[in-house]
Amino acid sequence: MQIESGVSLKPFNTFHLPAVAHTLVRIASDADVTRVVDHPKLGRAPKFVLGGGSNIILTRDMPQVVLKIEVPGMRLVEERADAWVVEAGAGVGWHEFVAYTLANGWPGLENLALIPGTVGAAPVQNIGAYGVELKDRFDSLDAVDLVTGRSVTLHSGVCAFGYRDSVFKHLLAGRSVITRVRFCLPKPWQPVLGYLELERRMAETGITAPSAQQVFDWVCAIRRAKLPDPALIGNAGSFFKNPVVTIEQCRDIIGRDPEIVHYPLPDGSVKLAAGWMIDACGWKGKTVGNAGVYEKQALVLVNRGGAIGSEVMLLARAIQESVYGRFGIRLESEPVVV
Ligand code: EPU
Repeated sequence: MQIESGVSLKPFNTFHLPAVAHTLVRIASDADVTRVVDHPKLGRAPKFVLGGGSNIILTRDMPQVVLKIEVPGMRLVEERADAWVVEAGAGVGWHEFVAYTLANGWPGLENLALIPGTVGAAPVQNIGAYGVELKDRFDSLDAVDLVTGRSVTLHSGVCAFGYRDSVFKHLLAGRSVITRVRFCLPKPWQPVLGYLELERRMAETGITAPSAQQVFDWVCAIRRAKLPDPALIGNAGSFFKNPVVTIEQCRDIIGRDPEIVHYPLPDGSVKLAAGWMIDACGWKGKTVGNAGVYEKQALVLVNRGGAIGSEVMLLARAIQESVYGRFGIRLESEPVVV
């Protein structure tokens, strides 16, 4: 276990926002977490768990003990008649893990290619893209309790996965450290191709029965075309959740804005495309201070260079106000604001 002081967090968050961790501990195993819990000084201090830093907005220095999760390792746990169960350490890069499963002939995660962040952070917000969510492929995870220092295995029911949501954002927020995650990749593999942009690729190429590798390549190309690469332009992916409204609310908005992009959900409610609404309010490509709205996807806020967290939040609030003013909808931010 390594304990460091006065560590810049700029390289550790994909928005490249400046902030300093007074104390940072690198965690490579369950035993490291237990050592922190048993430590005379660190044990009682408030903690902040940092994964790939791709879903946080840092607005200030961090007085909490920052636990930087670096648990390594990827392996096939079990091959069953109906599925492969594959495991990765929480510190493994998500995309690296997706590529590893495909290279080994265990398909099922290809729609989730190129999502920034780590394996350990993926269950926290139940990452999802192009018709697949983490919960659809989840088996179980190991976590260490930050009060007792004990390791536990949690299955799907306990994790309470929802749209960009889980128990780790609520009851277990700041309470446990995810150290390993296992995925259940069903056999026989079935591609998930219902998303409009994937259908478009099939039509363009004439490939009606793509391989998992083909879907992976398409998803990578779609993401590269409209989402900024955090290595080049600081960002945290979608900045707001797509709001879910009642059918009555949706009808009311359609009455005024017939073009609004919306998706009916199985429970009768309707999900609205927040990116479309922000775009409709004229924000695409706009800049406030050093923070801006990405030119190709209005749901993504970006660091134009040298932005600080408060500038990003100022821009976010201005967007929320204008969307509320026009549509009467309050957008909820997706990344964790610290
Ligand atoms: N749209 C616009 N203008 C924009 C942006 C979007 O008109 O500036 C329209 C699009 O044309 C489309 C609709 O809004 O008709 C939805 O856009 P898109 O397909 O890009 O998806 P999204 O709803 O904006 C969600 C996820 C993404 C995920 C994609 C693909 C959320 C908050 N975001 O975005 O996830 O990659 O679907 O599944 O659910 C992330 O969470 O960080 C993320 C990137």
